[in-house]
Amino acid sequence: MKPSASPILYHIYVRSFYDSNGDGIGDLQGIIEKLDYFDWLGVDGILLSPVFESPLSDFGYDITSLRGLNTEYGDMATFTKLVAEAKNRGLSVMLDFVANHTSSKHPWFIESSASATSAKADWYIWAPAKNDGTPPNNWLTIFGESAWRWHPTRGQYYLHNTLSNQPDLNYRNPDVVRELNKSVRFWLDTGVSGLRLDSVNLFLHDDKLRNNPPRHLGWQDDARTDPYRYQSQRYNISRPENIHLLKQLRGIADGYDDKKWLLGSLSDPSPYAVIDRYTSESDALDAANVFESLSLCHSVGQVGEQLDDFMKSVHPGIGCWSTGNHDIARTVSRWQDANNQPEAAKLLLTMLMSLQGVISLFQGEELGLPEADVPPSLRRDLFGKQVIANYVGRDGCRTPMPWLSEAENLGFSASPPWLPADPTHSEYAIDKQQQDESSVLHFTRALLYWRKQHVAMQHGACRVLAYNQTLMVLERHHEEQTLIIALNASNNEATVRLNLPSDAKSLSLPHMADAVPENHGVLKLLPWQAWVGELVRS
Ligand code: NOJ
Repeated sequence: MKPSASPILYHIYVRSFYDSNGDGIGDLQGIIEKLDYFDWLGVDGILLSPVFESPLSDFGYDITSLRGLNTEYGDMATFTKLVAEAKNRGLSVMLDFVANHTSSKHPWFIESSASATSAKADWYIWAPAKNDGTPPNNWLTIFGESAWRWHPTRGQYYLHNTLSNQPDLNYRNPDVVRELNKSVRFWLDTGVSGLRLDSVNLFLHDDKLRNNPPRHLGWQDDARTDPYRYQSQRYNISRPENIHLLKQLRGIADGYDDKKWLLGSLSDPSPYAVIDRYTSESDALDAANVFESLSLCHSVGQVGEQLDDFMKSVHPGIGCWSTGNHDIARTVSRWQDANNQPEAAKLLLTMLMSLQGVISLFQGEELGLPEADVPPSLRRDLFGKQVIANYVGRDGCRTPMPWLSEAENLGFSASPPWLPADPTHSEYAIDKQQQDESSVLHFTRALLYWRKQHVAMQHGACRVLAYNQTLMVLERHHEEQTLIIALNASNNEATVRLNLPSDAKSLSLPHMADAVPENHGVLKLLPWQAWVGELVRS
């Protein structure tokens, strides 16, 4: 994989992908049994959600061993078999690697929290209360609560930049860095193509624990409802010293003959500047995705703003783009006017596949799968529900993959699954869509193939030429080829003036009605229609 080649990674939420042993939980063997599916679809690799030992209060982002597998998913032999079989098919395997924090049930944290003189006392970030008993400083988590939690046994506060049962490790301690390096090598030695480092900009914090200064925003914002935005996160996240740690990991990754990939996932109010620093400026990471980015967008207008911001950067970084993931409502259900329509799913997939960098396609997006309706009594993401106000949790995008429309549990498992399969997903099932040439699934497959045929889509630089709330025009340019992509993300017909040269030629997008620009580049697009044109060089 090369960053400029825009590889497509299929993001697997392991627990809900396919259950091979009938315990209601997706597993590694299940992925092995479905490898043909990835061949058929035409993706370049798979990215596995965290597979490490975990008490699962945050479904794998709370780990109790960085070198142990969650046995519900399988053993090491199955893991290495998966990596080898994927490789035989030319598929890369990437792991979502959670190293910023551990679970509070990790033996290291238990030891660290027992006393300030324990051998692992400094493996986490501990600090005494202020005189009035309040936390050591004003740092907040992205959820707006204090990033410090009192530990009664130790009699001190510990830092948690994400959830309160996920204490941040102390990477100023060389013993902890040694453990990290050991774990990185352990997984890279298994033959995986690389790691996606979760919360990659949170690893190091200010050693003096200085207070973050306020951020002054417009009058319309309310510090009481969104306190995090009212702080400039100068001292707790995206610290300059973080780069040294990442570069050291880069050194490890580069030590392998098949130069391993390091991706990152980050969250920062100015995310693109951080991506620049971590990718193009320092080369520490091959690409990075931003949590705040497209996964939080509801309209192409918002996507246009994000891309504009991204491209304005000093050294435009290398992005890893996705419209859906395991933390956010399904794309076709949250997008403005999309209302779960297949035509909207196709247009939004076209938008995603038109971007430059690494593309991460979340499982089910290739089906146009809508957000599942999980009855309150069966919801499992209690944590998400607890920390985010007025939020039902993240279960709706994590339900089992619908493999067979008529089978029990939609063919995911022989037993009742850990989260119920949504009966309305039966009409989106893979078997059904594979038989229907006009389905979203066939469209996705054809689109991936089409993308590979166009050098500008694979290697070209990307620019946003214009956008409003529902329309966006992109350009992809690579040496000999310039493509213009116009996207109408609405239920209405739209007219776009493209200012095209007279010899511009329309290319047919697979499985989508052709639009033809009239004189002077006036293009009429049907609802949810895309057009791609090629500028011919004279
Ligand atoms: C990012 C993950 O995507 C999310 O699922 C998790 O809750 C947070 N990290 C906290 O670890």
